[in-house]
Amino acid sequence: MKTTVSVIKADIGSVSGHCVSHPALMEKCDEVLANALETGILEDYYITRCGDDIDLIMTHRNGELNEEVHKTAYDAFIQATEIARDLKLYGAGQDLLSDTFSGNVKGMGPGCAEMEFKERRSDPVIVYCMDKTEPGAFNLPIFKIFADPFNTAGLVIDPSLHDGFSFEVFDVMEHKKVVLDCPEEMYDLLALIGSTGRYVIKRVFKKNGEIAAAVSTDKLNMLAGEYVGKDDPVAIVRAQSGFPANGECVEPFAFPHMVSGWMRGSHNGPMMPTSQEEANPIRFDGPPRVVGLGFQVTDAKLVGPVDLFDDPAFDETRRQSANIATYIRRHGPFEPHRLPSEEMEYTSLPGVMEKLEPRFEDMDDD
Ligand code: F6R
Ligand code: MG
Repeated sequence: MKTTVSVIKADIGSVSGHCVSHPALMEKCDEVLANALETGILEDYYITRCGDDIDLIMTHRNGELNEEVHKTAYDAFIQATEIARDLKLYGAGQDLLSDTFSGNVKGMGPGCAEMEFKERRSDPVIVYCMDKTEPGAFNLPIFKIFADPFNTAGLVIDPSLHDGFSFEVFDVMEHKKVVLDCPEEMYDLLALIGSTGRYVIKRVFKKNGEIAAAVSTDKLNMLAGEYVGKDDPVAIVRAQSGFPANGECVEPFAFPHMVSGWMRGSHNGPMMPTSQEEANPIRFDGPPRVVGLGFQVTDAKLVGPVDLFDDPAFDETRRQSANIATYIRRHGPFEPHRLPSEEMEYTSLPGVMEKLEPRFEDMDDD
């Protein structure tokens, strides 16, 4: 029998501004998911948040894109939105693009990462939740976990990882996908995924086809056709015995890599790994955060989690991230702190540019 892990997330309102989800919303989600547990739709669940996003981590037997599971998550967000509206929380219901659910959450606003697998004798699974950034923010750490021998010692010294992994990459602009093998096609893979706003790692597989990782790639701003915040992503990664070790899965986050998002979804800034408790993006609405939760998936139940970045060994990364934030903030509205103009297309900047349009003249021979 197979187990499915589904992580569905949405920002449905927060305190103050776009900072932190309200506990009453999480309680409402808990109520709806507890009911789905009783009716047998779910086997287990865990609810967390990263900044203003609520992340529903669910296990079940129904496979990916299952209507009942997705509807459960959507209902939870819809019902919690009512509370958000009553409390006049900021951005109440902002990630829900429709009041009526149809089939699954794809294209409806929430982000989703899912994987179905046959449980091993013991199956460690890590869920990462990010805020104030976009799906491409996972490209660098996921690449390092599954393809960089300087990060993942097992790629070199464990025969069960030595063959490498295959990466499924989405072109989110053209709606196309490609699968590239590592280490064989590593340079081709890097040529794509270095463009984090366009090419996004969606899944990673072992060479025998077993699923190793899944990332949410939903581009909310593109779905909505206008700026509605970035697309704070989630990812699921399997660890140990033939997959990278737990420690190899968290190691890339010891480097506070630059991601786009942060203030108004329009700035580059350093990723900061934190505990669940410290996932409060406050300074300049950031800097971007990542939370990591380590579970054992046992007969479709979630044992755990361990709050993976609640480790003093990441204190230095957090300090570095804060220092980089101070450095790059000094650029104010200048690139490369502010995103390049192509990426500002879905922000409020086009409104400002429109006003200036009639004042532009031809340069002639100037
Ligand atoms: C970034 C984010 C915030 C808001 C900013 C302005 O993802 O959510 O930085 O963009 O606080 O918000 P509004 O336009 O709602 O006042
Ligand atoms: Mg968010």
